Amino acid sequence: MVSQKKISFDIKVYDSLSELSSGDQNLMSVAVKARKRAYAPYSSFNVGASVLLENGEIIEGNNQENASYPSGLCAERVAVFYAGSKYPGMKIKAIAITAASLNHEVNEPAAPCGNCRQAISEYEFRQQEPIKILLMGETGSVIECNSLADLLPLGFNSSFLN
Ligand code: THU
Repeated sequence: MVSQKKISFDIKVYDSLSELSSGDQNLMSVAVKARKRAYAPYSSFNVGASVLLENGEIIEGNNQENASYPSGLCAERVAVFYAGSKYPGMKIKAIAITAASLNHEVNEPAAPCGNCRQAISEYEFRQQEPIKILLMGETGSVIECNSLADLLPLGFNSSFLN
């Protein structure tokens, strides 16, 4: 027997950053500052990510590229790995991500790559509490997702290993 299932999820779309709560605006502004410090001489695509922890601290990161291209790392993973290394086991409440290119205007929200979704999902699965994800380009609208799991349907996690 075959059963058909639909997977869908809700997002919020804000026309601009100023419509977010002041806390979320602040989180995104930290990501923007981090984005401006990105090391991306090969792609000219600068990404910043900021991670709000349960203790209220914000940890940020940006993409770090390398002459050997695959050795570079995305902003999101730089940020969550640093958060995990500084505060092992501390819950993550939200992550804000912003991208800008030196070659064109990124005027719509940039979504995290598949590897970053998988990396963030490890933290969300471990803490058993959703991580809010805020996405923005350089200008334009902002997307709010309720959890990382929404962005990675049928995801792989440690439960499969037990
Ligand atoms: N990049 C990120 O930092 N995050 C993403 O989710 C997508 C891509 C970086 C990797 C690389 O330095 C540049 O953007 C172009 O792919």
